[in-house]
Amino acid sequence: MSRKSQRREIFAGNWKMYTTLSGALDLVKEIIDGLGDIANREVIVFPPAVHAREVVKACTGKISVGLQNMYFEKEGAFTGEISPLMVKDTGSRYILIGHSERRHVFGESDGMINKKVRAAYEYGLEPVVCVGELLDEREAGNSEKVVESQVRAACEGIGVDQMKKMIIAYEPVWAIGTGKVATPEVADSMHKSIRNVLAALYGNEIAAMVPILYGGSVKPDNIGGLFSLEDIDGVLVGGASLKAKSFLDIIHV
Ligand code: 13P
Repeated sequence: MSRKSQRREIFAGNWKMYTTLSGALDLVKEIIDGLGDIANREVIVFPPAVHAREVVKACTGKISVGLQNMYFEKEGAFTGEISPLMVKDTGSRYILIGHSERRHVFGESDGMINKKVRAAYEYGLEPVVCVGELLDEREAGNSEKVVESQVRAACEGIGVDQMKKMIIAYEPVWAIGTGKVATPEVADSMHKSIRNVLAALYGNEIAAMVPILYGGSVKPDNIGGLFSLEDIDGVLVGGASLKAKSFLDIIHV
């Protein structure tokens, strides 16, 4: 059995700040109608939080649901935020943490991201932790170092058993929404380096279990090259997940 076949294969769509409720429900329906036999592949959608409950209902267990962000406190005077308890209460299973837009548009620090990861486990949510370097960090030859420090910070205080429920998404910031996809070789080598960090922190067995997804301009015409590689266990898709046809073409790679 190859190392890859021991891991879950995950195809996730991050809808970001797109879709009205009716658009979201139409999209779910079209995805489910076109899903067919996907063997052991798991599909996750991350709708806007205001649609969560309805989307969970519409997914009828065929597709998993996660939310895109949350705060780390259970409740309190935090206007505009949603808590892990509330995310759990929608019926969502996953929570995206540390997406590059949260880090770079909203200024989330590694410390805050770690608090959110801890809060996710505390409330029984499974975190999908996003990491990735900026273009100037890549050009300076620092990609591995930057991503290693993001992974280490996110995992601070997280135990071995909790790691069995973590998913990591490597999303180089320069490839998000730009049409510039990382070459499969670059992505695979970054995934290997993330797996080495996990091995140093938690041992080889855990490192071999954690799914590592690639994200950044994934499209039907580049998924083949990416998903065929040993350390790419799935993808986190933005733009191309907003149309059922292109998302399904990616899932059916
Ligand atoms: P795009 O697929 O639109 O580049 O977005 C990637 C992403 O940020 C997914 O979380």
